[in-house]
Amino acid sequence: MDKSGEIWWGKDKKGMPRRKMYLADQGELTKAPQTIWFFQDVGHTQDAKKEALKFNSEDVFATPKPEKLMARIIKIATNPGDLILDSFAGSGTTGAVAHKMGRRWIMVELGEHCHTHIIPRMQKVIDGEDEGGITKAVNWKGGGGFRYFKLAPSLLEEDKWGNWVINKQYNSAMLAEALCKLEGFTYAPSDSVYWQHGHSTERDFIYVTTQMLSFEQLQKLSDEVGPDRSLLVLCSAFRGNPDFPNITVKKIPKQVLSRCEWGHDDYSLQVENLTKAPPEPGQQDMFGQEE
Ligand SMILES: C[S@@+](CC[C@H](N)C(=O)[O-])C[C@H]1O[C@@H](n2cnc3c(N)ncnc32)[C@H](O)[C@@H]1O
Repeated sequence: MDKSGEIWWGKDKKGMPRRKMYLADQGELTKAPQTIWFFQDVGHTQDAKKEALKFNSEDVFATPKPEKLMARIIKIATNPGDLILDSFAGSGTTGAVAHKMGRRWIMVELGEHCHTHIIPRMQKVIDGEDEGGITKAVNWKGGGGFRYFKLAPSLLEEDKWGNWVINKQYNSAMLAEALCKLEGFTYAPSDSVYWQHGHSTERDFIYVTTQMLSFEQLQKLSDEVGPDRSLLVLCSAFRGNPDFPNITVKKIPKQVLSRCEWGHDDYSLQVENLTKAPPEPGQQDMFGQEE
């Protein structure tokens, strides 16, 4: 029994601490069960808060994880160079530890602390100015880099009848830029030609409009494009049969939806590889083994 009279403590044949606790002794399960990691000191939230204070002394993240705990998990589950995803990044502990351990990482964060905590933290890690956490244990000196993307709002939203419509947050320039990206065109709006929002080649253009185009408007467009060029027109709606040799007409919600992927078991992610920094000679992981 331990001092509280609830738990039996002891050591195994090799002298490793162990304890025995039956489920019945847990009562209402008010006490969180401890694991062998507890004895091996992987840190706790208080350590993590002290670590976090170094990055943002005014606003400590509420539930940061200790770097040693993340390092243990990353060590067990991954190899150097692997890609680690934390889609609830919080204060960025996963990315910081993954980076110091030579893993690639993707973090996703909804909150403002992306800017107040994660980015400053990762910059310090990269600049070799983060002396906390597992830095000494893995002999981290700095290096590498990251790219940061701010996600745009959803391009489509459902109206009150359940129809897909263009999100009201999109102005015409944002819409044109987004559709150029979706359709594989380079966004390059022309100052002089209203129907040139982007191009895929020197002679192939894209025009994005929320208007409904009449047959006469499409005919005029076709005449202006001429026989040596082609144009993809994305509009809200059109009238008549737009059967022109040089223009292709598509409706925006339908065309955007056709680019979306639904119901797959496997959404294979195309991630461009960053140039990888080779590990420093003799760089050791936190368990003293060469990476
Ligand atoms: C408990 S924290 C994560 C802690 C962090 N993984 C760590 O290891 O220290 C959860 C985070 O998820 C973020 N979050 C919640 N919903 C989200 C969503 N849908 N997309 C991205 N981030 C989200 C919250 O803003 C919060 O920062």
